[in-house]
Amino acid sequence: MSYLSESREDIQKIADAIAAVLDIEVIIYDNDLVVVATTGGGVHNSIGQKVRGYVIKEAMEKKCVIVNDRPGYHDLCQPCHLCGTCPEQANINCPIILNNQVLGVIGLTAFSESQRESLLRNLPGLQTFLEKISDLVKSKLAEHELVQQLSALVNKLENILDCVNEGLIAVDNNGKVLQYNKTAAKLFEVYYSQSDTTKIEDIIANIPIKEVLISGNGYTDREIPLEIAGKTIYVMSSARTMKKEGKVIGAVISFRDMRDVNKFVYEISSYQGQHSLDEIITSNTIMKHLKNKLRVLSKSSSTVLIQGESGTGKELIARALHFEGTRKEGPFITINCSAIPEALLESELFGYEEGAFTGAKKKGKPGKFELANGGTIFLDEIGDMHLYLQAKLLRVLQEREVERVGGIKPVSIDVRIIAATNRNLEEMVKNKEFREDLFFRLNVIPLFIPPLRERIEDIEPLVEHFLNKYKFVLNKEQIIGFTSQAVNFLKEYNWTGNIRELENAVEYAINMETKVKIEASSLPHRILNYSKNVETGILLNSKILPLAQIEETMIEKALKIYGDSLAGKKNAAAALGIDLSTLYRKLKQKRKNAKAILYKDN
Ligand SMILES: Nc1ncnc2c1ncn2[C@@H]1O[C@H](COP(=O)(O)OP(=O)(O)OP(=O)(O)O)[C@@H](O)[C@H]1O
Ligand SMILES: [Mg+2]
Repeated sequence: MSYLSESREDIQKIADAIAAVLDIEVIIYDNDLVVVATTGGGVHNSIGQKVRGYVIKEAMEKKCVIVNDRPGYHDLCQPCHLCGTCPEQANINCPIILNNQVLGVIGLTAFSESQRESLLRNLPGLQTFLEKISDLVKSKLAEHELVQQLSALVNKLENILDCVNEGLIAVDNNGKVLQYNKTAAKLFEVYYSQSDTTKIEDIIANIPIKEVLISGNGYTDREIPLEIAGKTIYVMSSARTMKKEGKVIGAVISFRDMRDVNKFVYEISSYQGQHSLDEIITSNTIMKHLKNKLRVLSKSSSTVLIQGESGTGKELIARALHFEGTRKEGPFITINCSAIPEALLESELFGYEEGAFTGAKKKGKPGKFELANGGTIFLDEIGDMHLYLQAKLLRVLQEREVERVGGIKPVSIDVRIIAATNRNLEEMVKNKEFREDLFFRLNVIPLFIPPLRERIEDIEPLVEHFLNKYKFVLNKEQIIGFTSQAVNFLKEYNWTGNIRELENAVEYAINMETKVKIEASSLPHRILNYSKNVETGILLNSKILPLAQIEETMIEKALKIYGDSLAGKKNAAAALGIDLSTLYRKLKQKRKNAKAILYKDN
């Protein structure tokens, strides 16, 4: 489409105005010789048609006004098939030039003798007039172009604003909504078809916009509770005023759903890595069974209670449940109920409202439950929670909503709860130290993690795992494993601190070791001394036993530690300070004795 035809309506108005004044036909052509406006009198092509226009072409090429007082007989008319029969009596053609570019031609055309006379009589005046009209057309075109540029800009800006994750609403100085982006529409469940008179208060009741418009001062990052469709949601809002010549003419308010803000804060502040079930190392049957169970449970939202001694991997399991499951994109929020002073735990868990209590930060704060929305909250050391808070927690579990300290309206939450403790909750319930109703609410899916001493077969894969984890960090890449003696000491130990204690022991040993295999002597002293202490302790504290019985017990123990294979027996014999053949003899004797007992019993 040519430049002129885009502004066809304006051009036509100009043509009609000229014709009314001059009583002469006006035809305006674009630079393709297509008629874009015509006053309709006489014989000529209609709008949209292309003309041969030899004279018009000349006016465009020469960029000057051309007068043709004898159409059909002019030199330029010679190639035309209407040469000698042209219905036009005279014409005057003025090019329209914008930025040195010819956009078209305005032609005044006489179709009757009287029009011809008038045209030729007023020729000088008409030429000037046409040049002025050409300027008018140019200014119309420039205006049209500007409007187009502006509307393209507006369109671009709207698209940009719609891409912004924040909701944006612009209001005038009366709070009337001028514009808002898609995020705002989604956030407030309003649509672009709002009427012209919609005020921001109609959409968001408790927005402090009046203060802003009156004072001229905006605000930054204020948390505002909003009532939307009967639900309370919290948004983080900022406002800036728009001013003209010092006067407030409106404001732009931005909003972010606190759930997104919380997620963002969680993502940048608490990246603790994702944890999958593959990170739970085990060769133990009960643990393998537990891992399979976890895989299934991760897909559910039911409450889980993990019980196990300190350091058995309760948190690792809680994380795996979250990161293997359907909520993995949501936050995983941990709260250690024993680490936070009781007085603060309530506000940590449930948050508080602006000015809720003395000492509370002015602005109010969301609690861990709100922060965990859409994800999982891990209530660690739940057994250490005070009875008063147990009652509040019970309410959250029942209602699935939290009430901030000092708050009026509860906030609904979608959170999976995983609790853990190393205390015996059932025992605590009996002793009235833990609420029975809360215990049952938490104990929907109970998981018990056996202590490490009951899964000796996990020691070897775990120490290998920790060796690989630490040797690079500690610049000890040369270490390739453990001597069997070191492993035996590790298997012997009591591990009250379970896997955490084992992990620390391995880290210690890697630090101490200078050879390629970790030797027993590099292990922490408490582990080396343990068996000696235990044994001397047992020997000294127990009653006198027959030597034969002690010998048999030691042989059994050695085989349990070193294994029943030939290599195991060799090591067992070495540890017992006897030859391999002596060990075989003693084992044979033991079997004989056992058979004898069997026959005797029968
Ligand atoms: N099966 C396992 N495989 C690999 N690492 C493990 C395993 N179990 C526990 N760990 C590691 O042992 C350490 C202690 O685990 P975690 O913190 O999960 O135990 P916990 O039961 O929560 O302890 P606490 O009762 O002291 O809070 C962590 O570093 C964890 O990664
Ligand atoms: Mg823990």
